[in-house]
Amino acid sequence: MSGKLLRACIAVSVSVFAANAAAAERLDIGKREYEANCVVCHGTKGRGDGPFSDLLTVKVPDLTVLTKNNGGLFPVNRVVEIIDGRNMVKGHGTREMPIWGDVYNAEAVPQFDDYPYNAAIFVWARTLALIDYLNRLQVK
Ligand code: HEC
Repeated sequence: MSGKLLRACIAVSVSVFAANAAAAERLDIGKREYEANCVVCHGTKGRGDGPFSDLLTVKVPDLTVLTKNNGGLFPVNRVVEIIDGRNMVKGHGTREMPIWGDVYNAEAVPQFDDYPYNAAIFVWARTLALIDYLNRLQVK
């Protein structure tokens, strides 16, 4: 390979690598899920001060102290159950009509019916990403 071609290849590789790194930085699925479904009530930093919080009759809890209030361990099980509706909290609507619609409802993604697609895994991946994001919001 000529020196010139090699340099061109390296330049292309470096820019592809940089573009991938930038894309990886931008794609934070958990943050995206949180901002789409939770931020209106729980607030951008999770402190319970989202714009909707004033309209509710129940106090929106601070999600940054879940670990602190659970003896230093993030309460994964409890939070999963709250997100998927197994553990109902007043502010999240009913089991039939959770406030974030059917996003986390494995049965409710008929638009993918034509594809070899596993709804439960799709929902689980988004839930885990959200759990990861909530874990990152925790105060020490
Ligand atoms: C419509 C407003 C609203 C939205 C949107 C909302 N929440 Fe909540 N959330 C509440 C309220 C109000 C409570 C407290 C309810 C209660 O105490 O009965 C709560 C409670 C919780 C709790 C329990 C906290 C604790 O300390 O026990 C968790 C965890 C939680 N929400 C996570 C989420 C996540 C994750 C999302 C997004 C997928 C979300 N919430 C979206 C209003 C909301």
